[in-house]
Amino acid sequence: MDTRSLGRSPLEVSVLAYGAWRLAGSEGKASIEGSAYGIRALHAAVDAGITFIDLADIYGGGRCEEIVGDALRQSPGLRQRLVIATKCGIRRSGDPTPQAPFRYDFSREHILRSVEVSLKRMGLHEIDLLMLHRPDYLMDPAEVAGVFVDLRQAGKVREFGVSNFTPSQVTALQKAFPHPLVVNQVEISLLQTATLDDGTLNQCLELGMSPMAWSPLGRGALVQDPGSLTDARQRRTAEALVAVARRLGTTPSVVALAWLLRHLSGIIPILGTCTPERIAEQALAATLPLSREDWYELLEASRGSRLP
Ligand SMILES: NC(=O)c1ccc[n+]([C@@H]2O[C@H](COP(=O)([O-])OP(=O)(O)OC[C@H]3O[C@@H](n4cnc5c(N)ncnc54)[C@H](OP(=O)(O)O)[C@@H]3O)[C@@H](O)[C@H]2O)c1
Repeated sequence: MDTRSLGRSPLEVSVLAYGAWRLAGSEGKASIEGSAYGIRALHAAVDAGITFIDLADIYGGGRCEEIVGDALRQSPGLRQRLVIATKCGIRRSGDPTPQAPFRYDFSREHILRSVEVSLKRMGLHEIDLLMLHRPDYLMDPAEVAGVFVDLRQAGKVREFGVSNFTPSQVTALQKAFPHPLVVNQVEISLLQTATLDDGTLNQCLELGMSPMAWSPLGRGALVQDPGSLTDARQRRTAEALVAVARRLGTTPSVVALAWLLRHLSGIIPILGTCTPERIAEQALAATLPLSREDWYELLEASRGSRLP
């Protein structure tokens, strides 16, 4: 699979990433299969040429990082082939005391503790990319920048990025941090096109950051049988994907991902399926060129009206 530089960093990543959010499966699946379900999916992604793995400390309550750690321990040499990203900054209710509410926490103490826990779960010395998961309304950019600098100097994290940040939040943090923030991971799909207009993708182009697209298939809604969808926008968009896919001799999933890859900012879609056959199929998006006409036809279907 083709690769690209991650933001303005020396890291080189596959043009598609693999998301580990669902690796622990449903409670039932996970308890029956242990790590096997997630490890199988991870290997399918690697076999398809994906070298960029997206995690978070809270995925599966920590299980997803452990599953990736298990996979790395089972396959010597795998670590060197992968760029491993994780996130911190969201705290569940009840952590650490029963009364604590669900919250965001970019305090120095929490970031440092979270990195230590992630390293331990995955059995790593160093995380390639650490992202702040969702903007903390109480963020102190100077405090965060200070922790990032210390983590970098300690050799625990190579590069830093953010997730779900507005352009002005990126600017505030970037002003305080002396190294380039390399990614902003946001929701982008044919069902979530706000970042085309709200400055997020333009800022990535301007600063040379890589946008990463989470839920690129609308959590699967874009690739369901259109007849089964009751939401009018989902149905219209899924129908348009079927029509374009038929014309191009491919599948709706591949077209939906190629639609993201076509944008000049270098969007990195994060695949979320745990089904090995779907991972192999979706990886084909990396080689599907989409014409300007196809791209706009799909945008129009998503918006439900002609552009102004
Ligand atoms: N930064 C953030 O705030 C944030 C938020 C959400 C997600 N993420 C990241 O983004 C990654 C991807 O998100 P996502 O999992 O929502 O991605 P997605 O690709 O939009 O949705 C994946 C879901 O769609 C289903 N699916 C995929 N292809 C299908 C097909 N052909 N037919 C029917 N169902 C299909 C999958 O089911 P099967 O597994 O059964 O195939 C899975 O349930 C996550 O793993 C995580 O790394 C980040």
